[in-house]
Formats: sequence, structure tokens, C-alpha cells
Amino acid sequence: MITEKKIMDKIISLAKQRGFIFQSSEIYGGLKSAYDYGPLGVELKRNIMNEWWRAMVHEREDVTGLDASIIMHPKVWEASGHLAGFSDPLVDCLISKERFRADKAPMRTIGDLINITCIDKGQAKDYQNIIEKRFNITLKRNGKILEGLKVIEKNKIGFFENHETEASKKFDFPGYVSPTFNSPFLSEEKQFNLMFRSQIGAVDALGDIANFVNDNKHLDKDEMKQGIERIVKDSAVYLRPETAQAMFVQFLNCQQTMSMKIPFGIAQMGKSFRNEITTEHYIFRSCEFEQMEMEFFVEPGSQKKWLDYWRDKRLEWWKSFSNYPDNFIYRAHEKDELAHYADACYDIEYKYPWGFDELEGVASRTDYDLKKHAEYSGVKLSYFDQQKENPETGKMGWRYTPYVIEPAAGATRGLLVYLIDAYHEESVKDAKGNDTTRVVMKLHPRLAPFKVAVLPLIKKDGLPEIARNLVNNFMKAGINVRYDEQHAIGKRYRRHDEVGTPYCLTVDGESKEDNCVTIRDRDTMKQERIPINDAVKIVKKRLTKST
Ligand code: GAP
Repeated sequence: MITEKKIMDKIISLAKQRGFIFQSSEIYGGLKSAYDYGPLGVELKRNIMNEWWRAMVHEREDVTGLDASIIMHPKVWEASGHLAGFSDPLVDCLISKERFRADKAPMRTIGDLINITCIDKGQAKDYQNIIEKRFNITLKRNGKILEGLKVIEKNKIGFFENHETEASKKFDFPGYVSPTFNSPFLSEEKQFNLMFRSQIGAVDALGDIANFVNDNKHLDKDEMKQGIERIVKDSAVYLRPETAQAMFVQFLNCQQTMSMKIPFGIAQMGKSFRNEITTEHYIFRSCEFEQMEMEFFVEPGSQKKWLDYWRDKRLEWWKSFSNYPDNFIYRAHEKDELAHYADACYDIEYKYPWGFDELEGVASRTDYDLKKHAEYSGVKLSYFDQQKENPETGKMGWRYTPYVIEPAAGATRGLLVYLIDAYHEESVKDAKGNDTTRVVMKLHPRLAPFKVAVLPLIKKDGLPEIARNLVNNFMKAGINVRYDEQHAIGKRYRRHDEVGTPYCLTVDGESKEDNCVTIRDRDTMKQERIPINDAVKIVKKRLTKST
């Protein structure tokens, strides 16, 4: 069985070798959890995002687009609750230095044994020494496990030397342990804001901070911190952690300029930034990523109907580009999972190599955001429907704050999903009849970076000229094409299989005689002879048919 790690390793390796995804700043050793989308990655990402835009904006009369600035007025984030609520309590393990979220850490109750679980015996020995030095106790080493600790009160652990019944030493602990090592030796919780903070204005706040520190040496640590925080806050701006808020803030402008009638939506796609504590699974969770979000404004009371509508629409959309539609499901949020602004939510999940996990959230966000922005800005963010009876007064004409359904998808996460979905290994015979493995990326033709490759069999006898002519015809038709004359033809086919090019057109010696080329299908490997003059038309037709 191919393990989760093996599949991910293969995809990561192919993505790098074939120019889909590179580690950011690789020549400087890389920047943790930041990625660059290479020559083929940028095509794939754009194709996914363009398809989303087409389905959500161009093919609908009730949705309009927006491309807002990434840096917005800081009040936006105060009103949305991001400044206050977008922070997680963080804790460091004093032994392993592991940093984790306190609210997600495993709890331990009275009577639980706390065995610190190390990676191997060597690490157990190191941690035993660190604990001995720092806490003056010697835990018993049992292979890679350190024993001797037990929870004796809600927030206390005892050290029981040689299985004695009385604890010879007691320590405070917060009721939870570190997720990886099961360590109870932890730092205090620290608030950590997930938004990236920057500064606007040419004058650096450092000068003001230096003056403040110099003039206020008598202040204690907390007072000093608050003073500095006040200075920084004056010029602080934030990189948006979601694209959503601009659509609430520009609700009136979009509605009025386009004369939109409720129900209607505003869609936006683009970069978002989060100072994620745990970045994981390659590009699944990174600090800089792209989102595709739509805020759909509806009449109060109709939100359930529209939530179900968008859940089904979005699930279908993801499935429509997949080889394995059954790998996409939706899951309703439990009450205790709901964000503070939501009255219901579904996650669209994909079966990643590590199991089902989130790909898109479809949330019923109530009227929370519009009301908050109205409160903080003083601008009425409401909608007047002349044709509707006000349910309270019974009179015609109803002014209300719309409710919002939000399908919020990750574009870069979607790219990972389609890479996993496309990755296939097949056993085929090579030219000598030996079994070999063919790696083929069965990307949906609409998503594939190149739609067609044109390959002259040899680099002479006029074949490159015929091929280049054909390439020009594809370019003129707006079909992304690749001219490729390097290496033997078999190797070129394999190369294009690995990047998901649906069709290869080979120009050979006979092309000069019969004015035909061979078209090879990526998935079936079937080859057919077609007239050169019809090549663009035929490829176009096949690409359209595949949708
Ligand atoms: N406006 C609502 C919102 O932003 P979210 O569930 O936090 O909701 C929506 O994000 C989608 O954005 C997620 O389903 C996921 O696909 C993507 N996403 C969120 N954080 C991400 C990260 N750190 N890296 C990559 N994608 C992320």
C-alpha cells in the first residue's frame, strides 16, 4: 500500500521537478511554509481561479465581482472581530520547545499518568537530563518514555519516585499537556495574533518608541508594553486574513452601482495572509494563500434555503473537475464548531492522503458583519425592498439588513486537491516490451497548464517549420500550446503525461506528404492521424466535449 507520506512525497517531488511548485527563496535555504507557483503552477492556479470566476460571476446575473485592496482600514478588523478574536492562546513546551495552541491541547484529569513520549531513546535521555536540571527530579527512562508523573489535583502533577504512593514533589500544570510529547512542563499562555501587522506611513514608529522608552524608564513591564502598543497601533495596518470583509465594506457601492436586487452576491478572489501557528501538509495550510470567496446577500429568513443551495452548487463544482467525485463530501458543523458570526455552516471536505479535511466552508453568516460595519462606520448598510411588505408594520416597503451566505474556498488548497486527484501511476510496456511505470497527471483539460503540445519527430527536414506553423495557429486560437523538440519522442510523451497535457500532436516525415499529424490522447494513449488544417478545430472540439 502506498502510504500517505509516499503519495505526498511523490507529488511534492513531481511538482518541483516539473515546475508546478517551488519552495520560496530556495537559494537562501527557503522560507518556512511559503511557496512559489512555477511556470506550470501559475497556469494551473489561474485556470482553477478563472473557472471559479466563470461559474460564480460570468455565468450568473445575480453575482458581481470585486478586487479590493489587501490592506484595508484597521477599523475593518476591529469591526469584524479579527483584531480581538483572531488570536489564539499559544504555549511553549519548556522541554522540547514545541509551540502549540492551548485550546486544542489534550486535557489530562486526576489520576492520569503522564508519560513523556520521546521520538527515540536518545531524545529520552536528553529530556531526562533537561528535566533533572530544571525541576530537580529524575524521571524513570523506559525506552523512549519518561515515567513517574501523575495528575493529583486539577492543576497539579506529582512526581512518584520508584512507584512510591506519596508524591515527593508537586508541580503546577495547566490541565493539558503538549500534543506531541505529552509534556506537562509548559510556559504561560501567550496571545498570538494570526494577522500580519505592518505599518503605513513613511515615518518609522521606532523613533517614537525609543523616545517613549527613554522618557518612561520608571514604568513596569506591562505598562511599558501598553505604551509601546499604543504607539504602534497609531500607524498599524494588517494584511487581510480573508478576502470576505471587503465585500461587506463595499456592499452599498456594489449594490448601487450595479442596481443589484436581493438576493445577489459579491465575489472576490485573491491573496490572504495568516500567521498560522502550525503550517502543514505542504501547501494545505500556509501563511500566504489564495481564496475564492463570495458573499451572497439574502432576505432574513431565507438563509437556510440559500445555504443548502450554495452547499450543493459548490460541491458539484469541485466534483466536476475530478476523476473521483466521490472523494468530495460535505459535513455539517456541530454547534460548538460554529464561528461566532454563523448560525449554520457546512465544510466541503476532500479525501486527502491523511483523511477527509476541509477544502471550502459554506457558512450562514447571519447579518453579523453588515451590522458590525454599520455600527463601527456609522453608515447604514441596509437594503430597501419596495415590493415587499414589512413583516412588522404590514405596510409595503421593507428596509432590512441582509443575511449572508458565504461559500469560502481555498484556491491554493484546491490546487493541491487537483494535484492529488490527478496523480496516477500505470504499468505500461516500453518500446522493448518491458514493464515500466507511467506517471500521468490526469488533470481536467480545462485545468491542464498546456492544452496541447506540438512535437516534430526530428529537428530537421522541414518538420520544425510545420510544427511551429501549427503552434502559431493554436496561439491565434487562444489555446495554450507548447512546442517541444528536445529528446526522443517517447520521452517527450512521458514529460507531457507528467504535466497533464491532454493532447500531443506529432509532426513526422509523412506530414509533408499527407498533410496530417498524429494526435495522441494523454489518458488512453490512443493515436490517430488527423489533417493538419483541422488540428485546431479537432483539439478545440475535444476540449469542449471534455467539459
Ligand atoms: N471568510 C471565511 C473564511 O476565510 P476559512 O474557513 O477560514 O473561512 C476559507 O477559509 C478557506 O480558505 C478554507 O476552506 C481553506 O480552503 C482556505 N484556507 C484558510 N486558511 C488557509 C491557509 N492557512 N492555507 C491555505 N488555505 C487556507
